[in-house]
Amino acid sequence: MTSPAPDLAQVVSEIAEEMRQRPDRGDVATYIPELAKVDTNQFGIAVVDAQGNVAVGGDSEVPFSIQSISKVFTLTLALGKVGEGLWVRVGREPSGSPFNSIVQLEYEHGIPRNPFINAGAIAVTDLILSGHQPREALGEILRFMQVLADDPSITIDAAVAASEQRTRFRNSALANYMKSYGVLENPVDFTLGVYFHHCAIAMTCRQLAMAGRFLALQGRDPSTGLCIVPPERARRINAIMLTCGHYDGSGEFAYRVGLPGKSGVGGGILAVAPGKASIAVWSPGLDATGNSHLGRIALERLTKRMGWSIFGA
Ligand code: DON
Repeated sequence: MTSPAPDLAQVVSEIAEEMRQRPDRGDVATYIPELAKVDTNQFGIAVVDAQGNVAVGGDSEVPFSIQSISKVFTLTLALGKVGEGLWVRVGREPSGSPFNSIVQLEYEHGIPRNPFINAGAIAVTDLILSGHQPREALGEILRFMQVLADDPSITIDAAVAASEQRTRFRNSALANYMKSYGVLENPVDFTLGVYFHHCAIAMTCRQLAMAGRFLALQGRDPSTGLCIVPPERARRINAIMLTCGHYDGSGEFAYRVGLPGKSGVGGGILAVAPGKASIAVWSPGLDATGNSHLGRIALERLTKRMGWSIFGA
């Protein structure tokens, strides 16, 4: 006798309740002053399964700053524009270093290790910007998110973008260093402007889980039936999320959660259970590697109870 499949809605609401009660919340990022104002007493979760069922819990309808989670979508757009040629400018190996690390760039001649560390995402943004004005490139990124989430109300939090722009010193260093190697084509300030603004897109867990569906469904958008990317590309983006999506916490995330995932310093995580579900969690407090503390714990609970780890039960 096999036991019945766990009830997703029940599991999600139990996880949300446990996270609401936990005293350990992690710490908000302070290097972007606007993010330091966010109340750590929040937790949201949304799961969209392959049949289109949506299960939500906690603060799933509160918009938050997606930050580095935007890098999954800019990578997808850039691959659509330049195809595999992208890998000439950016590597696809885990860095084992913090998201804003600069040390490897010098050893590796200005070529960032992967598209999810800041340097790599700035190089990817530069590819999207080429041939366009910054506002056009940004509009393209925002529209892509709106279409994937099936929600035209998604916007950019201008206060967060301005806040990061004011304290941009580390990202400016990364961008200028890459520019010196010819890895960036556009004026550094243009590329950084687009980068800060796509990181400042604000979304709810529900919107983010909707936007991630194509990665769980072999590249297909179930709302429109359109192929966003070919199945092989969806598989490869998932592979990079698994190996690089949590920076120097990627190994721990694979060990505990067992899903491709991408974190953001706003406390969100987008995770993909291939063929099964797209999942978004959010809690603003971070762990020492800059990834959502409760978000990771919640995903660990979810994959265990649903049997969704890609590594087996
Ligand atoms: O460039 C930055 O530092 C931020 N806009 C994004 C960093 C981030 O989200 C790292 N993720 N955990």
